[in-house]
Amino acid sequence: MKTGDKYIMLEKYSELQQKALDDPEKFWGEQAKCLEWDKTWDKALDWNPPYAKWFKGGSLNASYNCVDRHIKGNRRNKAAIICEKEDGSCGILTYYELYREVNKFANVLENLGVEKGDVVTIYMPMMTEAIIAMLACSRIGAIHNVVFSGFSSDALADRINDSKSKILVTTNLLYRRGKEIDLKKILDKALLNCNSIKHVVYAKRGIEEFNLVSGKEYFWDELMGGAKSYVEPVPVESEHPLFILYTSGTTGSPKGVVHSTGGYLTYATKTMDWTWGLNEMDVFWCTADIGWITGHTYVVYGPLSLGATIVLYEGAIDYPEPDRLWGIVENHGVTILYTAPTAIRMLMMYGEKWVNTHDLSTLRLLGSVGEPINPRAWKWYYKVIGKEKCPICDCYWQTETGGHIIYPPIGIQSVPLKPGSATFPGIGIDVDVVDNEGNPVDANVKGNLIIKRPWPGMLAGLWNNDERYRAAYWDRFKNKFSTSDYAIKDQDGYIWVLGRSDEVLNVSGHRIGTAELEHELVSNKMVAESAVVGKPDDVKGEVPVAFVILNEKYRELPSNEVKAELIKHIRDTVGPIGTPAMIFFVNKLPKTRSGKIMRRILKKLIMGEEIGDVTTLEDNTSLEEVKKELEDFK
Ligand code: WT7
Repeated sequence: MKTGDKYIMLEKYSELQQKALDDPEKFWGEQAKCLEWDKTWDKALDWNPPYAKWFKGGSLNASYNCVDRHIKGNRRNKAAIICEKEDGSCGILTYYELYREVNKFANVLENLGVEKGDVVTIYMPMMTEAIIAMLACSRIGAIHNVVFSGFSSDALADRINDSKSKILVTTNLLYRRGKEIDLKKILDKALLNCNSIKHVVYAKRGIEEFNLVSGKEYFWDELMGGAKSYVEPVPVESEHPLFILYTSGTTGSPKGVVHSTGGYLTYATKTMDWTWGLNEMDVFWCTADIGWITGHTYVVYGPLSLGATIVLYEGAIDYPEPDRLWGIVENHGVTILYTAPTAIRMLMMYGEKWVNTHDLSTLRLLGSVGEPINPRAWKWYYKVIGKEKCPICDCYWQTETGGHIIYPPIGIQSVPLKPGSATFPGIGIDVDVVDNEGNPVDANVKGNLIIKRPWPGMLAGLWNNDERYRAAYWDRFKNKFSTSDYAIKDQDGYIWVLGRSDEVLNVSGHRIGTAELEHELVSNKMVAESAVVGKPDDVKGEVPVAFVILNEKYRELPSNEVKAELIKHIRDTVGPIGTPAMIFFVNKLPKTRSGKIMRRILKKLIMGEEIGDVTTLEDNTSLEEVKKELEDFK
């Protein structure tokens, strides 16, 4: 590979990559030996586009791989989870303790009638019980469906109903910025509409007493008290779903991305190692919430499969003071910190003085994920945090990819970095950048990022939705995986991901569909029509901006009140991450003659750009109106 005049020697990476692409079956078959299997597979890959069966005929158990195998050896008393709460309290769970808890909770689930293939929804913040519940599900072959605890009751109910979940594992309180948030209220509302739920388990916190519905609702501690201390891990077929995780798409409702056991766990384990090159001294802290894929792969499955020590922090990273995150790094001797550009930008804004009072010398690697990292944030992270000694691992991937797919393979060898590029295609990932017809574009030309062949971490499908699976990922480029991201490959082979090519926003590294927000806005009685677009934001990367047509009789109401009401509505139906930064009231929206809202035009407007070709616009006056609204706003 060449960068400018210098040739980069990436022999080890290139050698592995060559092997992986020359004979994927053989290669991945060798890699899958990083796990303990109950039965070896007959065939490493059975590719029947657009479905891939990885390690067909093999069986294994994920919880066995993440806990049991470590307690048989030297890691028995090693810290698995160092957990810290916002109030400063800390606890440690060793691998043996984690093993005990997982077994007991697996028995609790069995006693509640959970069987292999049943779906268990977990709605919990970053508390150890959440990880215990995830692993307990996998121990008995149940499929977990973790719902981010910041989601509203409607969002929770939708995810429970779509997955037909039988059990809900949750808690009554959230602690955030020194406040207690009443989750029970959100749960009670959600559960009114969830008929599939037979039992609810509350990991109760706080002093407030509350009543449980007898025969249906239970306290975690009480059930654990009577639970057996060992449950035989159930070997499941490699393709058996390990979990469902809902993510936003271009159309209405969120998609239930399904990940299989064998392929996903192999990929989580190997990318964990190839990216970070873990050793027994490491303390790995990925700040992502377990409600997102990053939390699944790099808080839970990747690190635990490798027997690493992780930090689990429940709270805001800038509370009570802006140096909270640095204090945690110092106190627990974090060696690898993996966070998001939005967090880096926020901490950067507080300034260096909050960093310099802490000893960050334990750090050896710094990770970034969720969106492209802007060079200014990259440099700050590199200089002020890493003291120019820690490589920045910018890892590009998606809920659907299961693990990193473009990342510097630092665990294999050192890699020359370019701020803002996630560097090279991951091992075994056959990436290309193509035009809209699927033809490869030249170096330095923007195109669509696709993956040309299957990999073990790829989604196994969408929950009960074959049609949408094909349409969303495989139809556009004929059985090649479409990421829906734009990218550039530069003259040295570095990939630069530029952002989504579809109508999905990236707010603080979280995906949120414009269609989802529009759907919720029009579900409010005041709203006749709406269009949502993203606007760049210094800290969050992007924020939603809503254009709304009100129903006639609400047009005379004071606009501030209507805005406040709509913001509340979004917070209640979607959750705080969907909150529009601005709402504009208009009488018309720019549309094509076929009636499609032209979001691209609205976007250009809020960016103050030239509008370009509007020949398909139905009515030019609508544009004028939007312009005027924006002028008034300034
Ligand atoms: C979308 C996936 C799995 C990561 C957490 C979000 C964007 C993610 C990067 C990066 C540029 C990135 C893409 C992608 N994205 N990481 N390092 N550089 N863009 O997972 O919610 O499934 O979102 O996040 O646009 O498609 P997700």
